[in-house]
Amino acid sequence: MTKRALITGITGQDGSYLAELLLEKGYEVHGLVRRSSSFNRARIDPIYLHPDNAGRLSLHYGDLTDSTSLTNIVRAAAPDEVYNLAAQSHVAVSFEMPEYTASADAIGAIRLLEAVRQHAPDARFYQASTSEMFGLTPPPQHEGTHFHPRSPYGAAKLHAHWATVNYREAYGLYAVSGILFNHESPRRGESFVTRKISLAAARIAATGSASGATGALTLGNLDAIRDWGYAAEYVEGMWRMLQQDEPADFVLATGVGSTVRDFCELAFSHVGLDWRDHVVTDPRFVRPAEVPELVGDASHAASELGWKATTSVGELARLMVDADLAALGATSSAAAERA
Ligand code: NAP
Ligand code: GDD
Repeated sequence: MTKRALITGITGQDGSYLAELLLEKGYEVHGLVRRSSSFNRARIDPIYLHPDNAGRLSLHYGDLTDSTSLTNIVRAAAPDEVYNLAAQSHVAVSFEMPEYTASADAIGAIRLLEAVRQHAPDARFYQASTSEMFGLTPPPQHEGTHFHPRSPYGAAKLHAHWATVNYREAYGLYAVSGILFNHESPRRGESFVTRKISLAAARIAATGSASGATGALTLGNLDAIRDWGYAAEYVEGMWRMLQQDEPADFVLATGVGSTVRDFCELAFSHVGLDWRDHVVTDPRFVRPAEVPELVGDASHAASELGWKATTSVGELARLMVDADLAALGATSSAAAERA
């Protein structure tokens, strides 16, 4: 029997990697997409249009803020597995749009859980939870660590996390919360810090300028520590969480922390540049409340799921810069020669 999966957020970084993984495993995949006046399918279209996937990937219009569309999609797709990856996922933006962020990220998860409970109660449900929920609590953070969110985004995701646990305990749904630490890739949105850095390093190496009037890269807090892994590996962990005998929540992380400054050094040195010559800071990019240090302990996922991150932060920085250079028609060795 062909398994059917429904992915919200299929046009995002993780949604596109997860769709690829599930199609490779033989699933029929359904994805929720938002109507947009401009093109928002750049990540999913190459997968959607691939001849091997013809008739196996369906896209449906909907929105996490619209329960009618969620109910209709759950009924139409009749999924065996539901992955709720859609979210207003930018922490800094959540301070400017706290109400919308709560509606999409907290109540959106409840809207979808309710649609699943009523129309596909045997489906297994994955909620995209986040290390941002740990906020101010010092590392190493694991499944039992105290939550102390520091942003409207973190607070909304914590609401969705507990709603997921509650639907499991109250209604017996196979519902799990994957608490994922930062994971990046060449498909990462351009306003997240790693992609901002990889793009700037590539542009400066290839053209001499990051962008804008000064040609420099403008960042906020360089001291923040994050546990950066490779997104393509993390979607395998999501899938494994839905294949267990009993539902449980898991942290996915590398266990290694690096500062934003370290990531600049890794990316710029790959193209023969000194980051200190090209990075400036501006309080505009500093958040009203910061999360100083996130470093995860994924030993529960290692023992129960057999999942382990394998790409180091250095490899990650290099593969992201290489992908951005390739899009500009350059290579890291050619760029380093010019630098
Ligand atoms: P992303 O690239 O920002 O993708 C977010 C997806 O959600 C996009 O497909 C977006 O659609 C969709 N979306 C946003 N608002 C929506 C709404 N109201 N209704 C329906 N769809 C909506 O995020 P990601 O990095 O792939 O992350 C996937 C999930 O994991 C998110 O929930 C994020 O909060 C969570 N997470 C991410 C990380 C990480 O480090 N990447 C770590 C922990 C947790 P458009 O393409 O139309 O914008
Ligand atoms: N975005 C951004 N832009 N961040 C900057 C900048 C900048 O110019 N300068 C410094 N930073 C710092 C932020 O203050 C933060 O401490 C760190 O870089 C990482 O920022 P982001 O890349 O925006 O990621 P995030 O950690 O806030 O959130 C991401 O990871 C979460 C998991 O911990 C997002 O993917 C969330 O959706 C996810 O839940």
